[in-house]
Amino acid sequence: MEVKILLKESEMPKEWYNIMPDLPSPLPPPLHPGTKKPVGPDDLKAIFPMALIEQEMSPERWIKIPEEVLKIYTLWRPSPVYRALRLEEALKSPAKIYYKYEGVSPAGSHKPNTAVPQAYYNKKEGIKRIATETGAGQWGSALCFATRLFGMECTVYMVKVSYEQKPYRRSMMETWGGKVIPSPSNLTNAGKQILAGDPNSPGSLGIAISEAVEDAATHPDTNYSLGSVLNHVCLHQTIIGMEAKKQLAMVGDYPDVVIGCVGGGSNFAGMAIPFVQDKLAGKKVRCLGVEPAVCPSLTRGIYAYDFGDAVGLTPLLKMYTLGHSFVPPRIHAGGLRYHGDAPLLCHLLKLGLVEAKAYTQRPVFEAAVTFARAEGIIMAPESAHACKAVFDEVERCKQEGKKETILFNLSGHGLVDMAAYDDYFSGKMQDVALSESELKKAMADLPKV
Ligand SMILES: Cc1ncc(COP(=O)(O)O)c(C=O)c1O
Repeated sequence: MEVKILLKESEMPKEWYNIMPDLPSPLPPPLHPGTKKPVGPDDLKAIFPMALIEQEMSPERWIKIPEEVLKIYTLWRPSPVYRALRLEEALKSPAKIYYKYEGVSPAGSHKPNTAVPQAYYNKKEGIKRIATETGAGQWGSALCFATRLFGMECTVYMVKVSYEQKPYRRSMMETWGGKVIPSPSNLTNAGKQILAGDPNSPGSLGIAISEAVEDAATHPDTNYSLGSVLNHVCLHQTIIGMEAKKQLAMVGDYPDVVIGCVGGGSNFAGMAIPFVQDKLAGKKVRCLGVEPAVCPSLTRGIYAYDFGDAVGLTPLLKMYTLGHSFVPPRIHAGGLRYHGDAPLLCHLLKLGLVEAKAYTQRPVFEAAVTFARAEGIIMAPESAHACKAVFDEVERCKQEGKKETILFNLSGHGLVDMAAYDDYFSGKMQDVALSESELKKAMADLPKV
């Protein structure tokens, strides 16, 4: 039996899949925060290139991947699917377990799948510099890598708690020529506003987004780039699920359940959406997104229009949100500390086409360590959330006497996250709980629409 299921470079998908025309009901549009009317291309062109704005709103089912992007993708794509035979044995699993491994990219996660096309389209439209935010440092390093390939500059606002916890992610970004600033900073009005309220703010993705958007909006040669949440990001990530589908077909298999972790929702959306396409055509498949219990937007948030950032600079997005002012506790999965989720993913959840669940971090790390001892790969704390859900699905299969097929997205390696594993082994890692009153506090700040 093959352990690695590999596609040839020539078999890599040449188009991204846009689910928009196949949705049973249309996606609620982003709204202008002032007029509360749907935003148009003109509202976005101060910070995004036209090609990405078009993709954000495109009604086309298939969107051609540019030749230059395909060429760069071949540095790590197609990524492998593994049959986790050793893990199945360790867990005495009646279920077959497959994982798609996105940690093979130069930056170590799925993030370059969208960083490369985003840098490409910006370069084509004459942009010299891109400003962005990063949580765990995965997105920032992906964009520094991608902008370097196109000879552009990159400024990264890195959530302060991660900047302190993950110095080597900063070194990676600097190796690719990026400039890294701990956020909140006093270089932007947004950062100053947050620091005035809390000089010791650990930062959050929402705050770092405010800083990067402001930087881009105030410099004509600079655009902003987002590593998750938006439709075009989920679109670029669909290459994950399309490849995986082909790879399972090569061994005559199809998943009963597809699992991914959720921060802003892009890797899970990218993995799940090509399967949701099948589900809409009548196929039986479950798609399960997994988030941290301290930032439970999908499982405990409310479905409402909210800002994408902390300060309120972005359009209003219809999403499951904890409130844009919510600052999640400091967990190790920095990339999952976002108050909302991709509107597209939230819409799929609302329609019952995907499911969601949440875990605290200790059981998540316990699963990741078991996985590493069986399969070898030491995964990112973010990906470990998906892994824990796989273990629970295996338990369910045992209890129900079922032999299902489980596919999960191992979104990135954890080799720059070893401090988190140290904390787990030393017993320092806390399972923080979030009270109902803490959750309600930030939700009270939701904009009125
Ligand atoms: C390895 C890894 N997985 C998952 C995520 C979460 O992002 P998303 O939900 O957009 O895939 C991140 C974000 O930084 C990440 O670094």
